[in-house]
Amino acid sequence: MEDLSLFSRRDFLKELGAFSAANLALWAGGCESCSQQIQNRPTRKNIQNLWAANPSDPVITTYKNAVTAMKALPSSDPRSWEGQAQIHFNKCIHRNWLWLPGHRVYLLYLERICRKLTGDNSFALPYWNWTTHPAVPDPFWDTSSPLYDTNRAITQADQADPSYIGASVVQNILNETNFNLFASGPPPTSDLHAGPDATGMLEGTPHNNIHGFVGGDMSTFLSPRDPVFYTHHNMLDCLWAHWNNDLNNANTNDPSWTNFSITDFVDENGNPVTVNAAVTVLYPIFSYQFEPCSLTAVTGGAKKLQGKQLEAFLRAGAPSKLEFVQRFELRQSVTAEVGKPATNAITVEPGALATALQGGPHTRLVLTVGDVAMPPHRDFFVRVFLNKPDVSGDTPIDDPHYAGSFGFFFDESAMKGHDTAAGTPAAPLTGFLVDVSETLQKLNQAGSLSSNQVQVSMVPVPYARRQAAGEQLTLGRLELAVVRF
Ligand code: C2O
Repeated sequence: MEDLSLFSRRDFLKELGAFSAANLALWAGGCESCSQQIQNRPTRKNIQNLWAANPSDPVITTYKNAVTAMKALPSSDPRSWEGQAQIHFNKCIHRNWLWLPGHRVYLLYLERICRKLTGDNSFALPYWNWTTHPAVPDPFWDTSSPLYDTNRAITQADQADPSYIGASVVQNILNETNFNLFASGPPPTSDLHAGPDATGMLEGTPHNNIHGFVGGDMSTFLSPRDPVFYTHHNMLDCLWAHWNNDLNNANTNDPSWTNFSITDFVDENGNPVTVNAAVTVLYPIFSYQFEPCSLTAVTGGAKKLQGKQLEAFLRAGAPSKLEFVQRFELRQSVTAEVGKPATNAITVEPGALATALQGGPHTRLVLTVGDVAMPPHRDFFVRVFLNKPDVSGDTPIDDPHYAGSFGFFFDESAMKGHDTAAGTPAAPLTGFLVDVSETLQKLNQAGSLSSNQVQVSMVPVPYARRQAAGEQLTLGRLELAVVRF
């Protein structure tokens, strides 16, 4: 981090959000102190571990005090607790890759508001590591604490299902090297809140499912009313930073990303801020850092970029190519219900899958669960299995036929204002990308991959404490594709 020459533009520095006006002056005057400041940037930590060591850890105390102070502001103040939730309700971006920078900016300014209102300038927003602690962390359950939310669907004892937060599932997502598969697809030109059929695995699996699992406020677009929201998104932010900075995977350099300005938030003084999406990729190297949140060991070290090289790599991004070179499609209405899985066969060209499995690291087999009608009741998530027609809700996910899971995060009441160009209500359809390469590889090695068809099973499973009887998943399209990037 010694070489700071890439930071020549004041507006760029300002967008980084890490430096006050006074520090900008220091920066201009040559920069021992800046590099010090970067090295000592605040560390975002695991809230459950902090609590286990000391329930009155300053991070937890400051977060509580900040929530109290935000709740005391009039809701017309965008820095207030309700004001921040309303920004999300009206503006949040999901189901395309801009959800990552959008929520990153959200957290950075929330953190700054917390500092300003509490006077604790060393505060760093903690995260909830649901992989190591699948229950909502203990500090959120003290009924007299401002971190408590009365309407969660679960209790302190309930654990999120390993189908969406287990170590191997998170590991597989981190192993994705393609940005679209990891982060979701490009934004549609008409409505940033949509993006049919392109939800990637970080968003569709742990992101959506934790919202659904916690329930109550968390399952709506007013989810930031529950203080657990920010710690959930901070974990996702940590995994994204890990994917970029430690595993050295590139983000996109598509103009829809590099030209995108995030204008939804205010700073700690209530002034609107404008941040370019591409600038946010530098936050975790200049503005804050994370106590490691991933179980993935960063091996080798040889490849890992540091300092100026890492910065240049992050700023450059890479073309986000995801070419569907062979598609095998089943276009037909499929309905699965809680307790009643649905299995359908996709016909494939003989030998195509086996050939694709030999295609090297830039060839993947991707299942698109497409034209999914947004279920009106979303008390369940969906496990996907391949070639397992006798599957049930009890089939364990360490079964070799298990391929992945997805859940829904949506709010009809928030979408009223977002009608499509055609004038129809926005986004009744959605879709998910599931990388099924590893599963097909296992089945192939076991000799149980038929050469001309793949059976795809959808298994709706209720979240903890939800009955979900009769709730259904209906989709119009299943596609198994050979993709290249
Ligand atoms: Cu915009 Cu997880 O929420």
